[in-house]
Amino acid sequence: MCGIIGFTGSHSAVPVIIEGLKKLEYRGYDSAGIAVVGSKGISMVKASGKIENLCKKIESGEPIEGNTGIGHTRWATHGVPNDINAHPHMSPDGRFAIVHNGIIENFAELRNELVDRGCTFKSDTDTEVIVHLLSLYYEGDFKKAMMKTVARLEGTYAIGAVCSECPNSIFVTKSFNPMILGVGIGENFFASDVTALVSHTRNVIYLEDGELAELTPDEISVYNAAGKRVEKTISRVMWDTEAAEKGGYEHFMLKEIMEQPNALKSAIEPRVKNGIANLSELNLSDEELRSINHIVITACGSAYYAGCAGKYAIEKLTRIPVSVELASELRYDDPIVDEHTLLIVLSQSGETLDTICAMREMKNRGTHVAAIVNVVGSTIAKLADSVIYTYAGPEIAVATTKGYTTQVAVLYLFAVHAALALGKIDEGEARRLTGEILKIPANIQRAFDLNPQIDELAKKYYNNKSLFFIGRNVDYAVAMEGSLKMKEISYIHSEAYAAGELKHGTIALINEGSPVIAVACYRELFDKMMSNIKEVKARGAEVLGVAIEDMKKIFSEADDVILVPKTEPIFAVTSEIVPLQLLAYYVAKENGCDIDKPRNLAKSVTVE
Ligand code: AGP
Repeated sequence: MCGIIGFTGSHSAVPVIIEGLKKLEYRGYDSAGIAVVGSKGISMVKASGKIENLCKKIESGEPIEGNTGIGHTRWATHGVPNDINAHPHMSPDGRFAIVHNGIIENFAELRNELVDRGCTFKSDTDTEVIVHLLSLYYEGDFKKAMMKTVARLEGTYAIGAVCSECPNSIFVTKSFNPMILGVGIGENFFASDVTALVSHTRNVIYLEDGELAELTPDEISVYNAAGKRVEKTISRVMWDTEAAEKGGYEHFMLKEIMEQPNALKSAIEPRVKNGIANLSELNLSDEELRSINHIVITACGSAYYAGCAGKYAIEKLTRIPVSVELASELRYDDPIVDEHTLLIVLSQSGETLDTICAMREMKNRGTHVAAIVNVVGSTIAKLADSVIYTYAGPEIAVATTKGYTTQVAVLYLFAVHAALALGKIDEGEARRLTGEILKIPANIQRAFDLNPQIDELAKKYYNNKSLFFIGRNVDYAVAMEGSLKMKEISYIHSEAYAAGELKHGTIALINEGSPVIAVACYRELFDKMMSNIKEVKARGAEVLGVAIEDMKKIFSEADDVILVPKTEPIFAVTSEIVPLQLLAYYVAKENGCDIDKPRNLAKSVTVE
């Protein structure tokens, strides 16, 4: 998604903004731009394509002086990626420049009104209406003009604005989309996320929806929607710059796969009190938990598949029915829910718009909303009635790995916590199960150790046109996530299928050499899976079997085998998925794909 960055301080803004834009590249973008307030007004440079193109344009043009500026990486929503549609956008009189992340839903109506008032538009973007409104409302007071402009906007936004007549000020505001203020000494920053500013300061302020802030080199003033000054807490970012870098790995994705044991420790250990899972952040008393008769889990993409995986453990232990819904569907489903429904929202970024909208819809229907997110202070975290952070650390690769496994682990903790509160298990069983959850980091490490050959195995799969992932029960959920990993980074079409469904249609696609990845770890249905393996092999399939390390029978049927450590069966997903993450990674590497920034994808999808 779009990335925004701004700086005001005692030295040139250009290098700070370019450095920040580079840190935001992972969000996915197709053009970039910068605007700086100098003694002769605002200088602006924009370029489609990568940031290198922007830098070339800056270097070949007039030197840009000025200590206050804004920058933007754009992921096109309205208007194709080109120099004109790139941000920043400048008012025709050159007085204002703005950057924007999000979508102005009423931009068409505003555009018509502004055209009727004589405005001429240069771009096809929704964003440009903002800078024209600013111009329209400006009578010498930047703050007032911002407030009047924002009052006209509907939709989602994080906006940074500069004015040629206020060379030391930046105004920012937000609704839905993230806006983080970096508090420096003699300098201040804003950005879409911490990664862009953590090398300058770890002291940050999370702006709330509807708030407006003015940044000068020496002060950050925050106002509520009525224009009244509000005091804000300064939070400390615990990530260090090193954590947000690659740490010696070729790709962020491999780094994040390999750091899962530590990430899972961070997600699990703070939630174990006296040896028993204790999700105090859930903010639900035992009595309130007992009033829940339905759990809905909603998310998108891998987070949705994490919900599909966690559902099995929650239902098995709590005996409360769990439905897992795609957020992009749930928000329009007119769901049958009420105050006895618990909504669990999963999101790594905490900014996925479909998930936010589904969440709002469910909140309006009285459900208690618990969010399991990774990014502290994110929109979803702030919207929820209770938030449980996964503490996975910065996840830079677009394809989530530790974000997924930490979400699943927190769902496991929830299952034990809730089952104990509901009296479905006693303290002894809760302690035993918690002990099994605490083994997850070591199990993941063992999953690495059991499969040193995955990079070799990938050489058998990288040039396939299509792959099939099959599984039963919880292994079907694992197959779905394994398939998405493969698709999104190797660009090979793949499909996850309930193995029992093959005979109802899909098996027609199996012919000589069709590669099938059979996830067969669920012990109670292992024999059924062995039959499914025979079924597809009889039609010429090449089978990669994924099984628990003591399921030796898998070797009799599968052409290749990935082994998974023996764990508590209901907590096996976090080990099963790891070799499939690695398989997707090495297949994509064989294909020479842009693993950390796959084509067409963004790390956080903040548009519909
Ligand atoms: C996962 O690898 C994908 N990048 C994507 O499906 C992602 O899981 C989805 O967009 C949800 O993102 P979130 O967890 O940040 O809400």
